[in-house]
Amino acid sequence: MKKPFPPVYYADYLQLDKLLTSQLPKSDEYNDHAHDEMLFIIVHQAYELWFKQILHELDSVSSMFLKDDIDERNIGIAVARLRRITVIQKILIDQLGVIETMTPLDFLEFRDYLIPASGFQSYQFRLIENKLGLNTDSRVKFNDKNYYSLVSDEHQKMLIESQNTDSIYESIDKWLSRIPFLNTDEFNFWNYYKDAVGVTLENEKSIILNNPSLTDEKKAKQLEVFESTKENFEALLDEGKYNELRKNGHRRLSHRSMLAALFINLYRDEPILHLPYRLLTYLVDIDEHFTTWRYKHALMVHRIIGAKVGTGGSSGHQYLLQTAEKHKVFKDLFDLPTYLIPRSELPALPEEMKTELGFYYTATLKNKK
Ligand code: HEM
Repeated sequence: MKKPFPPVYYADYLQLDKLLTSQLPKSDEYNDHAHDEMLFIIVHQAYELWFKQILHELDSVSSMFLKDDIDERNIGIAVARLRRITVIQKILIDQLGVIETMTPLDFLEFRDYLIPASGFQSYQFRLIENKLGLNTDSRVKFNDKNYYSLVSDEHQKMLIESQNTDSIYESIDKWLSRIPFLNTDEFNFWNYYKDAVGVTLENEKSIILNNPSLTDEKKAKQLEVFESTKENFEALLDEGKYNELRKNGHRRLSHRSMLAALFINLYRDEPILHLPYRLLTYLVDIDEHFTTWRYKHALMVHRIIGAKVGTGGSSGHQYLLQTAEKHKVFKDLFDLPTYLIPRSELPALPEEMKTELGFYYTATLKNKK
């Protein structure tokens, strides 16, 4: 940096004149001062500022993953930025405790002045959902309306554009599908994996069959669960069956990407796979933190407005609970542990593969089978 720079004044740099004159309670406008409306505004504004920071991080991660050839050094940066999002999310979850210091009666003092405004119209929250990769078709319907029907034309445009741009989910799917070392001339991992799964499943079955504390009825129930686990494994290893699950909405990642994600999870201790493993883990963390936020927000809403409809007109906490259940983006990654087998059953990666790949797994190796 070249010096000297002109001096900067703290309040100017942070534009505090704008920031601190942006709290305009409606109750004051109607000459009906409600003390807690200031808290209500400031908490929402603080959320929107953090949403802005999350979008800033998501956009930078997206731009790294949009290219076909990802600079490997960027994976570390992406991991650090995704981790930052998870730390911010913990603040977002905690911040609900601040708004909960407002009692239902305090809220009633100014609630009616806000209708029909609602957090439902937070376009930044929707942008985060879209940029992460929430599928529009799997959104919970809000009074049978499209999720963007209640925001301004300008915000609708932004949301539709974000919906039509590759999300983090889609970029990760493409990146995973390019990871080259699932099969090489020397090593077909999936043959080993099939055998290892066979051994693990046989073990599990014999544990059930030989468990003296199980009644015949309980044994039959557990064998039923066992059969469904077995089918899950079979579907994973059979592309046709897997694609059937995908068609029916039970899986979203492509078959190849799911196998790559599984491989990364199984061999996470290899240095070469450590960063990809952390990246996948942070994506699951981000999803989990948003789910936690949604549940806590729904509980808070129940406490504050009971069974009333929201200011935006939804069924209130019932609607919110449904979004907590259904708005996960990386559900396939949550399901991955179904397919894990013990470390002791894993075949060692061949030395040539480790040496050849070093710390790299670029798309330039993609034609290697
Ligand atoms: C007194 C406090 C609050 C109440 C009573 C409340 C109530 C509600 C209700 C009832 C909804 C469903 C839509 C509707 O019918 O309006 C909703 C949605 C939402 N609220 Fe809140 N909220 C509160 C605080 C907050 C805060 C502090 C935030 C932070 C930004 C927030 C963000 C959201 C978001 C993003 C949605 C959309 C959720 C979705 O569609 O999945 N809310 N809120």
